[in-house]
Amino acid sequence: MKVLTFRSNEEMSKEAADMIANTLHTTETPVLGLATGSTPERLYEILIERCKKGEITFQHASTFNLDEYVGLAGDDVNSYRHFMNENLFKHIDVKKENTYIPDGMTEDPEAECTRYEAKLQEAGGADVQILGLGLNGHIGFNEPGTDFDSRTHVVTLDETTREANARFFDKMEDVPTHAVTMGIDSIMDAKEILLLVSGEKKADILRKVVEGEVTNDVPASILQKHPNVTILTDIQL
Ligand code: GLP
Repeated sequence: MKVLTFRSNEEMSKEAADMIANTLHTTETPVLGLATGSTPERLYEILIERCKKGEITFQHASTFNLDEYVGLAGDDVNSYRHFMNENLFKHIDVKKENTYIPDGMTEDPEAECTRYEAKLQEAGGADVQILGLGLNGHIGFNEPGTDFDSRTHVVTLDETTREANARFFDKMEDVPTHAVTMGIDSIMDAKEILLLVSGEKKADILRKVVEGEVTNDVPASILQKHPNVTILTDIQL
């Protein structure tokens, strides 16, 4: 794992944008794995600016998001579909039909997982996968204890994760209890992984990810086994 440390979230986001621009420039039909959360927000703004200036294009790209809450419709302000539309897709030239996010309103979440995983495989997996890091070490919504060989699956969210994400909802009861997430193995299939970690409160968990043992108690620790991972952070380890 390569660890790049920056003085600010701004510098971290610029470097991540450069790396994604490189994939867009060098890949005929780029497949981007995308994440939600506050960490990549600035990165998405920079990508939008560069697309508007004509420096990059998403015309030939397809995107696969890591996860979605079960029970939230795409137009719900708290759904990840809504987050992605507002924070990236509607401002860039990506074809809407090439933006994939699990359907949170499906009648049959298990079937949705199979469908989503098949789509991802069909696209050949992500050329570059962006990841954030949960306070408990989760990636996507793969909570501690998740099997490393998991593919896209339905998860019960940890109470700590629901609490961490409650800030976006009116009240705690509104925070979904379940989500569909790419599995750890689906994530590990990506050719390149960029793990973005910002803010001192993630220092302890980041240390475990980088220096600790590889254990499914800390899902992101599996990244130590991936051949092409860059951690971009504004935390001084
Ligand atoms: C969320 C998402 C993750 C995200 C993480 C960190 O629960 N499911 O994909 O990376 O938590 O979020 P943030 O960047 O807001 O700290």
